[in-house]
Amino acid sequence: MSTVNLKVNGRSVTVDVDPTTPLLYILRNDLDLNGPRFGCGLGQCGACTVIVEGEAIRSCITPVETVQGFEITTLEGLEKDGKLDPVQQAWIDAAAMQCGTCQNGQIMNAKALLDINPHPTDQEIRLAMQGILCRCATYVRIQDAIRRAIPLVAAAKAAARMEVVA
Ligand code: FES
Ligand code: FES
Repeated sequence: MSTVNLKVNGRSVTVDVDPTTPLLYILRNDLDLNGPRFGCGLGQCGACTVIVEGEAIRSCITPVETVQGFEITTLEGLEKDGKLDPVQQAWIDAAAMQCGTCQNGQIMNAKALLDINPHPTDQEIRLAMQGILCRCATYVRIQDAIRRAIPLVAAAKAAARMEVVA
């Protein structure tokens, strides 16, 4: 066992664990953050995706010791001041979910994509999202949700700039 210091959704937390434990287990079992899902546990489906320092990663195959001190964002960390992230809002608008099992991975991967590339083409969306599997095959609705998120993200950024100026 070792003490591991993490920064999750803007909060500093310390856990006493085997440092090789997958980050997913720590998030779900120790920190009660159940947005990230256990799908395959092998890095193959994307259901466990979280964002670490702006990059979408698979938490089921990420030893917790490797993300010490990094900014970790889970699905729970997207909402700010009671307001959904534009990507979450777009997901609702597009009714993108079916059973929901994969949707943490879809949303977090899309969030990371739009943070890096706020105006992706359809081809860029397909390429970025291709590793996140959906057994319900909601891929068309997911693509639609990401297209809907593009103007919402732009509007949120513009509103944030206005707040800074005011
Ligand atoms: S549960 Fe992590 S990639 Fe499938
Ligand atoms: S919505 Fe069911 S697995 Fe994707």
